[in-house]
Amino acid sequence: MSYERKNIAAMQGYQSGEQPEDSLTIKLNTNENPYPPSPMVDELVNNLNSDNLRRYPPPTADKFRSLAAKIHEVQVNNIIATRGGDELLRLLITTYVEPGETIAMSEPSYSLYPVLAQIQNCPILKIPLQDDWTLPTDFADKVNNHGAKLTFIVNPHAPTGRLLDELSITKLAEQLDSILLVDEAYVDFIDPKIKYDCLKLVEKFDNLIFLRTLSKGYSLAGLRFGYGIAHPTLISPMLDKTRDSYNLDFFSQKIAEAALRDQSYAQQTWQKVRDERKNLAQALEALGYYCAPSQANFLLVTPDKNLNGSAEMLYEYLKQNNILVRFFNTPLLKDKLRITVGSPNENRQLIDVLKKVLRKSSS
Ligand SMILES: Cc1ncc(COP(=O)(O)O)c(C=O)c1O
Repeated sequence: MSYERKNIAAMQGYQSGEQPEDSLTIKLNTNENPYPPSPMVDELVNNLNSDNLRRYPPPTADKFRSLAAKIHEVQVNNIIATRGGDELLRLLITTYVEPGETIAMSEPSYSLYPVLAQIQNCPILKIPLQDDWTLPTDFADKVNNHGAKLTFIVNPHAPTGRLLDELSITKLAEQLDSILLVDEAYVDFIDPKIKYDCLKLVEKFDNLIFLRTLSKGYSLAGLRFGYGIAHPTLISPMLDKTRDSYNLDFFSQKIAEAALRDQSYAQQTWQKVRDERKNLAQALEALGYYCAPSQANFLLVTPDKNLNGSAEMLYEYLKQNNILVRFFNTPLLKDKLRITVGSPNENRQLIDVLKKVLRKSSS
């Protein structure tokens, strides 16, 4: 006898990227930052006092929220702190979307979105991106015609790294009848020369919310800390009603504050990742891998099948050589690999292994 709700019984859970625990594997599969967290985080972790765990933590993480508000030049009531960006996605759905109402997203996109929609028993409208991975011009019309309640887009886009500009985000927020979640999980890796900054739009649009995470830019994927930035009317129901009573433990709040405070360290790691992104793309292109232009900390690469073999075969070959990358066995992505930008040494080892493939296929 199964006690599951029908939609839960019918669905599959989220498929996480492989997470080996050994230190030998070169992990280029889940877009983690190759550099360690700030030395200020290190110091704090080394001096944690377990007596702090006797009491419940600050319920709404107000110190963290004030810090984030200051950094982004918004108000504290524009911010909600969450257990990873993932908790924000779940809160948005449970707060704003009734079971049976439509949730829209571009395709391909972050594969957790459809899973969360299924949990809430909501149909998901997947709108394919164009060949250059931009949104189709009738995206908003399609979403509105289906009566979607919530729309997810990722910027820079995952899994391609393609960046939409501020004007496109503004137009979408204007045109959509739904709430628009702009998932900025990878925003820190955008070239600062582009001057991308959409956060001020939350003053103007009460249907627009941005997702941020400390998992990527602050090298803290293991911490599980993220936040949302939006108009107070969108933040308040989640902050005051639907959030778990103490969603963020005491230590994670302190660690997140320390990481955010050390902006100059974080910015150095972002620049190193950008420099390596360029080097890695050049080295891959030289071996016959087409790299989609990326403003994130990963590259979506299409191997030249004649030179290098299929994406799936390459994924397996790299795995045998202790290098993990991400292969998505879906119609739009099955000829591609998503490769996280690693440290210079990790990227060199990746390129060395890929050179062997080239030698094998030409001999
Ligand atoms: C596009 C995108 N959004 C959100 C997240 C969630 O990040 P986290 O829950 O680690 O903060 C991820 C994680 O990989 C992601 O790729």
